[in-house]
Amino acid sequence: MRAAVLRQLGKPPGVEEFAEPVAGDGEVLVHVTAAALKPVDRQMAAGTHYASPRELPVLCGSDGVGLLEDGTRVFFGGPRAPFGAMAERTVVRRAQCFSVPAELDDATAAAVANPGVSAWLSLKHSAKLAAGETVLILGATGVTGMMAVQIAKVLGAGRVVAAGRNERTLRALGALGADVAIQLNRSEQELIEAFRNEAGNKRFDVIIDYLWGRPTESLLAAITADEFTVAGPETRLVEVGESAGPTITLPAAVLRSTALKILGTAGIPPWATLIEAFEQVMKRAARGELRIAIERVPLADIEQAWERNASGRRIVVEP
Ligand SMILES: NC(=O)c1ccc[n+]([C@@H]2O[C@H](COP(=O)([O-])OP(=O)(O)OC[C@H]3O[C@@H](n4cnc5c(N)ncnc54)[C@H](OP(=O)(O)O)[C@@H]3O)[C@@H](O)[C@H]2O)c1
Repeated sequence: MRAAVLRQLGKPPGVEEFAEPVAGDGEVLVHVTAAALKPVDRQMAAGTHYASPRELPVLCGSDGVGLLEDGTRVFFGGPRAPFGAMAERTVVRRAQCFSVPAELDDATAAAVANPGVSAWLSLKHSAKLAAGETVLILGATGVTGMMAVQIAKVLGAGRVVAAGRNERTLRALGALGADVAIQLNRSEQELIEAFRNEAGNKRFDVIIDYLWGRPTESLLAAITADEFTVAGPETRLVEVGESAGPTITLPAAVLRSTALKILGTAGIPPWATLIEAFEQVMKRAARGELRIAIERVPLADIEQAWERNASGRRIVVEP
């Protein structure tokens, strides 16, 4: 079968013939129709992700949509290595296959699952967003950030502040539910002022951070108090991504002067929580309440697509 084969970390995969997968106990064979190219797929192949493969070659792609042998259409996650989602066929545990609403086409279902479920879990499960709270999405112009803007509103956020770099995408976020936009492409001092103005207007209850690096440092500088204050309610910052950098400098002053709680997103949440998030995202995407821009690419073009910045769109590979 044809598949996106990774032979060297740090290089894009190439399309080659690869051995057919065979399903073992508890597993099913999936005839793949669509697999999204996500940041995690690129990070794994680059060797920069903590779970990057130790043995090569492997097939790329961590999830997708396809048909089981009996014709059932499913979304699947976690193919058994060395198999992957960007291939004509793959093999996964049956328990990791979920039904997809009939109204959603394969490419949209494949695209929306990862950013949608991640944003849903970050806001509801990690940050425990309460109705009426103010949410800052740092990195709102990325595919997952755009999903988080929409889901924050679905979950009852009072005010959604969208911070991002891409001017055009940032302008379009109002239609997805953002109340205010903060442009990141400016001097550090201007950015600190912009965050400070917004935080002064209405304190951030929840921050979902897809960037880390310098934008996060500016944000932390902006919310650091410059005098003794009475302790207020917590600001919960959920670290989800590192598009702007893998590290930050964390001054003690921000933790000593504000009720800031920094949360991680490690590990797979309890199964019931994951299923609820998946079903909510799929149902709302099928109804058109959650929107995502996609770009379909044939498997044969994976090498060029791998290097391309699709800016605000999710590339979906079709084997
Ligand atoms: N743990 C999880 O479950 C999970 C799930 C989804 C995503 N993530 C992580 O979250 C991050 C974003 O994911 P995504 O799906 O939104 O990615 P994406 O669609 O590829 O978007 C990346 C975004 O990062 C922005 N960006 C890149 N470098 C930047 C910089 N130096 N300063 C400011 N903005 C910068 C890009 O802005 P431009 O548009 O201007 O280029 C773009 O908006 C990634 O690190 C990803 O791995 C984690």
